[in-house]
Amino acid sequence: MIFFVDENTANYCLPVAISGLGDNFLVVDIKAGEEYKNLETTQNLWDILLSNEIDRNAILINLGGGTVSDIGGFVASTYKRGIRFINVPTTLMSQIDASIGGKTGINYGGIKNIIGTIKEPEAIFVFPNFILTQDLRELTSGFSEMIKHALLKGGSLWKRTKEITDFNINKIKSLIGENIAVKFDFVSKDLYDKNIRHALNFGHTVGHAIESCRLTKGQKLLHGEAVAIGMVIESVIAVRRGILKRKVLQEIRDYIALFFDLPKIDNLDDIIGNMKNDKKNRNGKIRFTLLEDIGHYVLDVEVKVHEIYDAIAEYNLSYKSL
Ligand SMILES: NC(=O)c1ccc[n+]([C@@H]2O[C@H](COP(=O)([O-])OP(=O)(O)OC[C@H]3O[C@@H](n4cnc5c(N)ncnc54)[C@H](O)[C@@H]3O)[C@@H](O)[C@H]2O)c1
Ligand SMILES: [Zn+2]
Repeated sequence: MIFFVDENTANYCLPVAISGLGDNFLVVDIKAGEEYKNLETTQNLWDILLSNEIDRNAILINLGGGTVSDIGGFVASTYKRGIRFINVPTTLMSQIDASIGGKTGINYGGIKNIIGTIKEPEAIFVFPNFILTQDLRELTSGFSEMIKHALLKGGSLWKRTKEITDFNINKIKSLIGENIAVKFDFVSKDLYDKNIRHALNFGHTVGHAIESCRLTKGQKLLHGEAVAIGMVIESVIAVRRGILKRKVLQEIRDYIALFFDLPKIDNLDDIIGNMKNDKKNRNGKIRFTLLEDIGHYVLDVEVKVHEIYDAIAEYNLSYKSL
């Protein structure tokens, strides 16, 4: 049994995870942070598995946030053509999203998650109390995906999510189970991401591009922070197309702004260039999941480059009044 951990999960979570396990396991440290979710780290991990003579019957446990499960899942699914792995997510983001659904991967050539596999873990064990030691900025980043789930699902989930107006950890923990169910529902209908799972891309077409561009420039924005901006800009696109009411955009933006900075977006050429390389594109067209209302969305909408420029320009005007 091999545990992949990072410096924080080694400290806060590993003692809990290994209690009662004896000493027949190997612990491998991965450097914490998105900037290490790359090929070099992957090669180091392959080397460590090889030098420890890890065979195909081994089981790998990814004890960490989305960075550890993305890279750990990728290493497990490629090493000796695939060994079994279990995810034990330790951040809010990974408990409700990243650990579920089998998407593994690394960043490459300045593009987020562009190299990877789809391989489901053998099991996912969620201990909500692990998130108690997360720092507030990381926790808030994970909350962005909760907002996304609530916007896609609508109804009572949106209503109860909106009741959270500050970081009440108990209220957040009480919604973890339902958020897992939302993600799992999409994934179980469409593991290979051919149709309905595309709904989960809401906020991510723009969000990933902003995140990648910031990463390349060393101005790190967390995944959830970029997705929060992406959800607002993609809702502006929907309003400009006439499919979403402006007052719903206002409701979404006002709620997101309670938790996230909505900074001015510059370098539009880079961001749109990055979007053109998005894995979600088909035949070179940039496609979005757009909201028609809270709880209602349309998949795979082709959006023209000039519409994206115009929407970001509109977002940049309105950010000042927030
Ligand atoms: N595969 C997917 O479906 C999917 C979905 C969403 C996000 N992601 C990926 O997940 C990553 C983001 O995940 P994340 O937000 O979990 O970030 P992360 O894994 O980088 O963790 C964030 C920070 O929190 C620390 N940490 C982890 N658990 C902790 C704990 N219990 N207590 C204290 N500190 C702790 C980590 O060491 C790190 O410094 C991104 O790379 C994103 O692309 C993947
Ligand atoms: Zn995401």
